Amino acid sequence: MGAMIAAASSRARVGVLVSGRGSNLQALLDAAEGPDFPASVVRVISNIPDVYALDRARMAGVPTTVIPHQDFPSREDFDAALDACLREAGVEFVCLAGFMRVLSAGFICGWQDRIINIHPSLLPSFKGLHTHRQALDAGVRVHGCTVHIVRPALDDGPILMQAAVPVLSADTPDTLASRVLEQEHRIYPEALRRLVQGRFVIDGAKAQSVAGDTAEGPRQALVSPPLL
Ligand code: GRF
Repeated sequence: MGAMIAAASSRARVGVLVSGRGSNLQALLDAAEGPDFPASVVRVISNIPDVYALDRARMAGVPTTVIPHQDFPSREDFDAALDACLREAGVEFVCLAGFMRVLSAGFICGWQDRIINIHPSLLPSFKGLHTHRQALDAGVRVHGCTVHIVRPALDDGPILMQAAVPVLSADTPDTLASRVLEQEHRIYPEALRRLVQGRFVIDGAKAQSVAGDTAEGPRQALVSPPLL
């Protein structure tokens, strides 16, 4: 029997960790503007000063903290500072949104099944960096993105949602990235919504959607190249 994860209050308190431009943070902030969205972004933390993600947070009125990783003697010390900041802000769920640091197992275990990440590939294919280049080099016809629960192994953990896009013959890593990014911005807020609403059951290495979410839906396959 898996554990159902849900927020304590009706509007879950979310912390977002960033290192860059923050377009996925923006998607979360925009979703949280909706009166019915069940989560609020209450803190944005960057390990790098002056990244655009911090401006996005400030424009949305969300408190920000910069915790430069190079100020700490070890990964564990940096993670302890992150953890303290998140706890002080009363955070219940953590979203990684282009956060470019590997988190220690100790930190991740302290947030068991409450940290999620968006990765720009259809996991378990193409872990790590340069996923669009990896996909083009592998010659796959379908690529995409994945929202998953974070576990200590890199780009590993129960998969919550995925979106697939076709790979086109003229694609470069940049054109493919922008097609995937559009889908990232759709599924990340939706996965967060469902997570805080307790609509995923985490069972070991897998997540399942609750009955109502799996029932009926579009069944059309993405065939790439198209059958014509
Ligand atoms: C996204 O492609 C995300 O999937 C990956 O890092 C990138 C971050 O982009 N983890 P942004 O900072 O959210 O614009």
